[in-house]
Amino acid sequence: MKYCFIGTGNMAGAIIRGMVSGKNTVSPKDIFAISKTNISAKKLADECGINICENYNDAVSGCDVVILGVKPHILAEVAPFIKDIILKEKPLVISLAAGKTTEYLENLFGEETKIARVMPNINAVVGSSVSGICGNKNTTKEDIETVKEIFKTIGSVTEIAEDKFGVFSAIAGASPAFAYIYIDSLARAGVKHGLTKSQALEIAANSVLGSAKMVIESDEHPWALVDRVCSPGGTTIEGVSSLLKDSFESSIISAVDAVIEKDNRI
Ligand SMILES: NC(=O)c1ccc[n+]([C@@H]2O[C@H](COP(=O)([O-])OP(=O)(O)OC[C@H]3O[C@@H](n4cnc5c(N)ncnc54)[C@H](OP(=O)(O)O)[C@@H]3O)[C@@H](O)[C@H]2O)c1
Repeated sequence: MKYCFIGTGNMAGAIIRGMVSGKNTVSPKDIFAISKTNISAKKLADECGINICENYNDAVSGCDVVILGVKPHILAEVAPFIKDIILKEKPLVISLAAGKTTEYLENLFGEETKIARVMPNINAVVGSSVSGICGNKNTTKEDIETVKEIFKTIGSVTEIAEDKFGVFSAIAGASPAFAYIYIDSLARAGVKHGLTKSQALEIAANSVLGSAKMVIESDEHPWALVDRVCSPGGTTIEGVSSLLKDSFESSIISAVDAVIEKDNRI
């Protein structure tokens, strides 16, 4: 299978690195890329051995999968240069663009085009993205499998109905920012009580990593796990009570509401 990347910035770069390393490796010789200046594409070529193309035609021609890694507002700028080849060769088109629906993409690339929409998150850089995917009416089971194979190289993949992409973006796309704040707040508290910042950050981040693993692997409800940490009359219940008094849960729900509300207004 041959893959074309249009745009080789932060997210496309993370995906390309994921594809050419680790399990189920794709040969870099099967990856063709073009960006606006080709500076980022050349850097990736030096690092990973992918092919750089000087024009859109060379990039897209002969590829089974075309991955659009440009910012959402650039899609309409690129579309006229690649639409005809896409209509002729019928590759699977994958868009990473936040907020751009499959209907919008069909208007740009043809109603009969096979289109998948993917929402990865920033943790793709360390191979730990949580990516939401959906296909339009033209995609087959095999196409969705292809999308899963690509995005599994940068983390986990969840099929999600397109009308739930807004919620998904809040829970999986924006939530890393919330988690980073939580980790930093824990570390800052550690500093307040005498740890160095780097020591406190490492402890806090690993503790959050372990807690996420516990939720995923233990099959226990998060509140059952909270109960397991809280000994009667102990120290942890004091902290949990303090968080509840200060509306910790409803603050997080309000933050998700705020992301979704803004997403609906764009
Ligand atoms: N970053 C994230 O955490 C994240 C998360 C979810 C979804 N996404 C989505 O992923 C997409 C890319 O985001 P990003 O953060 O990777 O952006 P980015 O780092 O700014 O990369 C954008 C890329 O688009 C290229 N480009 C711009 N105009 C072009 C044109 N006319 N023809 C070809 N290439 C062009 C740029 O080329 P040069 O390198 O030559 O300038 C650059 O390589 C966006 O649609 C975004 O919504 C990103």
